[in-house]
Amino acid sequence: MVRLGVNVDHIATIREARKTYEPDPVSAAAAAETAGADQITIHLREDRRHIQNRDARLIREVVHAALNLEMAATPEMREIALALHPDSVTLVPEKREEVTTEGGLNLRNAPAQTGEIVQTLKDAHIKTAAFLDPDLEQIREAARLHFDAVEIHTGSYANAAAGALDKELAAIKDAALAAKRLGMAVHAGHGLNYHNVTPILAIPEIEELNIGHAIIARAVFVGLDRAVRDMLRAMGRV
Ligand code: PXP
Repeated sequence: MVRLGVNVDHIATIREARKTYEPDPVSAAAAAETAGADQITIHLREDRRHIQNRDARLIREVVHAALNLEMAATPEMREIALALHPDSVTLVPEKREEVTTEGGLNLRNAPAQTGEIVQTLKDAHIKTAAFLDPDLEQIREAARLHFDAVEIHTGSYANAAAGALDKELAAIKDAALAAKRLGMAVHAGHGLNYHNVTPILAIPEIEELNIGHAIIARAVFVGLDRAVRDMLRAMGRV
């Protein structure tokens, strides 16, 4: 059974467009959990463009599903993670000018701080994942830094033209196998939707997906409960 993490950042993006109180990502997290999501994923960005500290705090309190915090490897975020105590932290790269996370982390020559943050979180019994492109060298670096898991960036696959799909899928398969052989759990996410998720589910090493945009986009028309249930159905879960 592949777990579904629902990313509710996009609800906060709509709220922040008006700097008001609605729609509330805390309510979205509770609704996603009720619909069957195994995990709620939030990205607390340095610029707080969508999820705010208050959202993270309340989601931690309200939701009983697992909480996955995506964050940059900075001292400020390390302190927030230790106080919040999510079930897992996924380290992601962050650039202020990007619209969304554009690529995986570069762990080659990663600053010593990255390894220290991984160790600090592990000591606090928070699982650690690295968001990586399907690149074997990056996967090996993640193992060297003792990450518990990798989340393979599926953006290139999701955006690929039909003729390039097989190559992108093969890269994800190779990366998943390599990560598993190195003792890490394998997650995947970014750009996944109700259609392109099927070939990803056929990769046996992948045990968790984190999906946001496609679910929230469908929720605008059918409601969040049904959008989450539809994704679980697409994943063969119901
Ligand atoms: N995983 C990570 C690490 C991400 O940064 C994002 C985007 O916020 C997602 C998964 C979900 O991507 P999408 O919104 O395209 O489904």
